[in-house]
Amino acid sequence: MRTFGLFLLLWLVNLGGRGAVVAYSSQNATALAFTSCLSGNGIENVTFKSSSSSSNYYTLLEFSLQNLRYAKESVPKPYALIVPESRDQLHKSVQCSIQHGWQIVMRSGGHSYEGLSSNSQAPNFVIIDVMKLERVEVDMKSKTAWVESGATLGQLYSAIANKTSLYGFPAGVCATVGVGGTLSGGGLGLLARKYGVSADHVIDALLVDANGKLVDRKGMGEDVFWALRGGGGGSWGVVVAWQIRLVKVPPVITVFNVNRTGNDNVTELVERWQSVEPFAPEDLYIRVFVFGGSPVSLTFNGMYLGPLPQLLKLVNEIFPEMGLVAADCNETDWIGSVISTAVANG
Ligand SMILES: Cc1cc2nc3c(=O)[nH]c(=O)nc-3n(C[C@H](O)[C@H](O)[C@H](O)COP(=O)(O)OP(=O)(O)OC[C@H]3O[C@@H](n4cnc5c(N)ncnc54)[C@H](O)[C@@H]3O)c2cc1C
Ligand SMILES: *[C@@H]1O[C@H](CO)[C@@H](O)[C@H](O)[C@H]1NC(C)=O
Ligand SMILES: *[C@@H]1O[C@H](CO)[C@@H](O)[C@H](O)[C@H]1NC(C)=O
Ligand SMILES: *[C@@H]1O[C@H](CO)[C@@H](O)[C@H](O)[C@H]1NC(C)=O
Ligand SMILES: *[C@@H]1O[C@H](CO)[C@@H](O)[C@H](O)[C@H]1NC(C)=O
Ligand SMILES: *[C@@H]1O[C@H](CO)[C@@H](O)[C@H](O)[C@H]1NC(C)=O
Ligand SMILES: *[C@@H]1O[C@H](CO)[C@@H](O)[C@H](O)[C@H]1NC(C)=O
Repeated sequence: MRTFGLFLLLWLVNLGGRGAVVAYSSQNATALAFTSCLSGNGIENVTFKSSSSSSNYYTLLEFSLQNLRYAKESVPKPYALIVPESRDQLHKSVQCSIQHGWQIVMRSGGHSYEGLSSNSQAPNFVIIDVMKLERVEVDMKSKTAWVESGATLGQLYSAIANKTSLYGFPAGVCATVGVGGTLSGGGLGLLARKYGVSADHVIDALLVDANGKLVDRKGMGEDVFWALRGGGGGSWGVVVAWQIRLVKVPPVITVFNVNRTGNDNVTELVERWQSVEPFAPEDLYIRVFVFGGSPVSLTFNGMYLGPLPQLLKLVNEIFPEMGLVAADCNETDWIGSVISTAVANG
């Protein structure tokens, strides 16, 4: 998806005309007060809307935008894109926006299907993109981590795996999805059967609230903290960073892919899967991809939190119709399972 985005970008750059409009020349007093608030606080990475399609504005706007429908000309565009370099700059960006009446649209990984991180119906809005707040601090003593909202799931997984192979984090299968949107909205992945959604494992957060005040869990109170974990991004304030609890994973995890075609009774197999999977032990995760065409085919893709012989024995008992054999499987560790399932199916 990112490759496609970049491709489109290059195309836009090539078609773009010369003569970019200097944003400052068109600023009225309200806009000027806002931009001087930003620059007064040392926030320099501010890119103003431009009429030239070759400007950095569009490059930055589309950098992580996953649903390119929202790149269309008819979709409202932000007055400016602000990329804070630090937590303090993020805090100040929010304060300046509130003070001068600008609606804030937050962006972490930019994967919102609904375009909630790229546009707004509000007449005056800016995007604050936290891509540079991507620090992950893993503490193996407490088995927790602080992760900034702009980190991607891939960065989070990698930082954990750098410290341990016995703990992981239950979140999505797409490595470029952002932490900010994931923890705000839930987060489902291959560990969900055992550990639930990502948001279930948030234990503290740093939030800039609607009044521009920086608060932690204690400061925001339990009601807001509850709402933050699944109530949807952008609704309760701006989350700077999250403290999460890591979850235990075994040293050996087995991943598998099984392809079956129409001649193998694809419909019956899917029906069987529907009745087996919800009641299977929580260490086993099986998802199914059904491909159209003639004949119809399917791929079972999954993971077992344990070694291969145990997996084969289990599947033979509860789902022999899948036809799983050792050649379909690989033993790996947690980070290996994350990479393998992401590479296999995006
Ligand atoms: C290709 C693809 C694969 C996906 N795979 C999975 C998956 O396996 N599992 C799964 O559960 N989901 C998956 N999703 C859905 C994804 O988890 C959600 O769309 C999630 O909200 C994206 O987070 P983000 O940070 O990338 O999004 P963004 O678009 O940046 O943000 C999403 C929402 O959160 C708000 N927000 C962002 N940052 C902050 C912040 N710091 N403070 C407050 N609000 C903020 C935004 O304003 C927006 O409303 C996938 C989406 C795509 C496009
Ligand atoms: C000032 O400029 C901003 C940005 O272009 C615009 O959104 C806003 O409506 C303008 N305000 C007035 C009073 O003209
Ligand atoms: C802001 O940061 C982005 C990401 O690093 C960069 O591409 C862009 O050129 C920067 N813009 C400004 C105005 O500094
Ligand atoms: C993990 O460790 C490697 C090698 O030391 C390093 O290059 C990488 O940046 C680390 N990743 C994270 C996310 O900390
Ligand atoms: C197992 O490993 C082989 C060799 O690296 C690879 O080709 C195959 O796709 C892997 N299978 C799974 C299910 O990950
Ligand atoms: C299984 O099917 C998937 C999806 O069509 C395909 O990408 C993969 O190469 C297939 N694997 C084998 C071993 O046939
Ligand atoms: C397909 O299903 C039919 C009827 O249930 C059964 O007789 C047949 O053996 C199945 N074929 C395969 C390849 O599993």
